[in-house]
Amino acid sequence: MQWVKRTPLPDQEELSRLYKKLLVTGGCGFIGSNFVRFVFNSRPQCHVINLDALTYASFKDNLADIHDHPQYRFVHGDIRDRVLVDQLITECDAVVHFAAESHVDRSIMDPEPFVETNVLGTQTLLTAAHKNGKVRFLQVGTDEVYGQLALEDPKAGFTENDLLKPNNPYSATKAAGDLLARAFHHTHGVDTVITRCSNNFGPYQFPEKVIPLFITNLLEDKKVPLYGDGRNVRDWLHVLDHCDAILTVLEKGKAGEIYNIGGNNERSNIELTSMIIEALGQSQDMIEHVKDRPGHDRRYAIDATKISQQLNWSPTRSTWPQALQNTVQWYVDHQDWCQSVKNRKFDQYYEKQYGKQHR
Ligand code: NAD
Ligand code: TYD
Repeated sequence: MQWVKRTPLPDQEELSRLYKKLLVTGGCGFIGSNFVRFVFNSRPQCHVINLDALTYASFKDNLADIHDHPQYRFVHGDIRDRVLVDQLITECDAVVHFAAESHVDRSIMDPEPFVETNVLGTQTLLTAAHKNGKVRFLQVGTDEVYGQLALEDPKAGFTENDLLKPNNPYSATKAAGDLLARAFHHTHGVDTVITRCSNNFGPYQFPEKVIPLFITNLLEDKKVPLYGDGRNVRDWLHVLDHCDAILTVLEKGKAGEIYNIGGNNERSNIELTSMIIEALGQSQDMIEHVKDRPGHDRRYAIDATKISQQLNWSPTRSTWPQALQNTVQWYVDHQDWCQSVKNRKFDQYYEKQYGKQHR
């Protein structure tokens, strides 16, 4: 028998590329601020420019601990500002694009800002990436672009090859952003990668989203408005697992590819709500059943086989009940933050969204 000497295959680490100058859009929001902190903790050589328009959902102070970091620069600006974006992209070797209008209920009330930022803003960035020619562009996407699964659907979860069937204006505009990223890769050869992640939880989430909304309501002795029958299902992933997955795809993902990211942690809203109430030692009577969200997607679930097998990523921080309890505790310990973000403007939104909805 003749032995053939083979060159060993490079392991995944050797295939990965380190990016040193990141343009992070939306870095003052929930996931973006966690990501910037995560990058400085895990990639000390990195420089980050954070471009954020500071909309209602963002707080510069979310990154107060990073502000004076010598490798950090905050730019207050809009991703639709072509001149600004063109200039910033030439200073970077990768773009991690978080900036978005992100709340489904607001997109039902008024879809226009969603089209402006999630579609036109993404196009502006991609055009600048095309002009620059050298940057890697990571489009931070959502599982909501796949539409919904039925509760009894035997499918384990959405795969990257599933059709896009967005059901609300938020997910429709996110799907448009993903498709633009795909098209810029195919037509112009821009080095794009797309991630599609399930629902995130963790610190610094704006309290219009269900977990921080319910925690902060309970801390204010207010009831929690549960939509419809409460049986809708979401797959919950800790925000730091998401940040880790994004960095993994940025460094190891293949150009033009899509990677689903999930927590393998499906929970019904009623189960989630009961756990939050229990963690705060309150009564289940604090649940107030309210009118359902129009077009409310029944179930989201992710099949994350591709990222797990090809890029060796899996979640390590999302195990419930502990991870949820830690998140509840973060909001308990940061009530000043909660109060400052739940300001007068938020009260107006709350009244508009929930005021007349109660059954
Ligand atoms: P967020 O609403 O907390 O933050 C969005 C940030 O974008 C804010 O800081 C805001 O000021 C900024 N922004 C909005 N419009 C802008 C504009 N025109 N120019 C510059 N900055 C602008 O959102 P998030 O929950 O942190 O989500 C971040 C990204 O992750 C979004 O693209 C969202 O679609 C995606 N995503 C979120 C989840 C989730 O569970 N939150 C899950 C999957 C994917
Ligand atoms: P949300 O946090 O808005 O995320 P998404 O719609 O992007 O999944 O909502 C999560 C789930 O919680 C969703 O099924 C809707 C439900 N929900 C309520 O029952 N009541 C609420 O007040 C909110 C904001 C959400």
